[in-house]
Amino acid sequence: MTQPIPVPLQKLHGKVAIVTGAASGIGAVTARHFADHGALAVVIADVQDSKGRQVAASIGSHRCTYVHCDVTNEDQVKSLVEFTVKHYGSLDVMYSNAGITSTSAQTVLELDLSGYDRVMAVNARGMAACVKHAAGAMVEKGVKGSIVCTASFVADCGTESLTDYTMSKHAVLGLVRSASVQLAPRGVRVNCVSPGMVATPLMCDILKISAEELRETMAAVYLGRDEPLTEKHVADAVVFLACEDSAFVTGHNLVVDGGLGTKSIAVLKQ
Ligand SMILES: NC(=O)c1ccc[n+]([C@@H]2O[C@H](COP(=O)([O-])OP(=O)(O)OC[C@H]3O[C@@H](n4cnc5c(N)ncnc54)[C@H](O)[C@@H]3O)[C@@H](O)[C@H]2O)c1
Repeated sequence: MTQPIPVPLQKLHGKVAIVTGAASGIGAVTARHFADHGALAVVIADVQDSKGRQVAASIGSHRCTYVHCDVTNEDQVKSLVEFTVKHYGSLDVMYSNAGITSTSAQTVLELDLSGYDRVMAVNARGMAACVKHAAGAMVEKGVKGSIVCTASFVADCGTESLTDYTMSKHAVLGLVRSASVQLAPRGVRVNCVSPGMVATPLMCDILKISAEELRETMAAVYLGRDEPLTEKHVADAVVFLACEDSAFVTGHNLVVDGGLGTKSIAVLKQ
């Protein structure tokens, strides 16, 4: 149980936020962190309805609502944004975080293009739909909002075995860099956060190991701190990008990987 954050230190006081992919992992922890930072309302969106509702209930129904939204469906993304604006008056923060991984490790020689389509549909197209509709709502209402996307430590380098996932995360950087240029004159900031390896279901699926094993392996690697990178480290970076502390930061890729750098590629090869 974490201590409540005193009101003067709350970074998102009175803000209305959406978090996609918030039924699990980084999204769930960040949604809670937004609420702890004084957000007026956090609308969490996912396709795992039962888990999503549990996360919303645990944060508190007075400040958190679950909405089913498959980000591959533009109509559902549009409805999510419309629901938020209608119920809470505006949209200040969009954290577009929903993502999936490759169905299997693959070099370009074995690339399964059906799997590629699935990964790109969520990680690239879904991310674009969220940025498009969130930005539209902010511009329409004259809100100088903040949009944050989740990219990855593989967004700016090649990998040995995750071709489609790596491509999808490079696409997030292109989206963020373009949208930030286009939206800057309207006062809307667009950035991304690039986590290293966090022991969520997604990363455990890629590596085919348990969360416990991954935490132990990674604790030895990160910054010599003898502790693994967690969802909370990523959530702290997202809060920074979402709030006024980063008022003049846009088009930025904030890497939160504990200096893992190229070592991560070696881990993925195993
Ligand atoms: N865990 C890591 O080490 C790591 C590293 C780098 C980047 N990331 C990125 O972080 C983000 C969050 O992943 P996570 O690690 O917390 O994994 P996770 O599997 O715990 O959470 C991902 C969530 O996205 C949801 N989702 C999947 N497809 C969706 C869709 N079509 N519409 C709406 N929601 C959908 C899932 O149901 C799940 O709740 C992803 O974009 C992922 O690529 C994770």
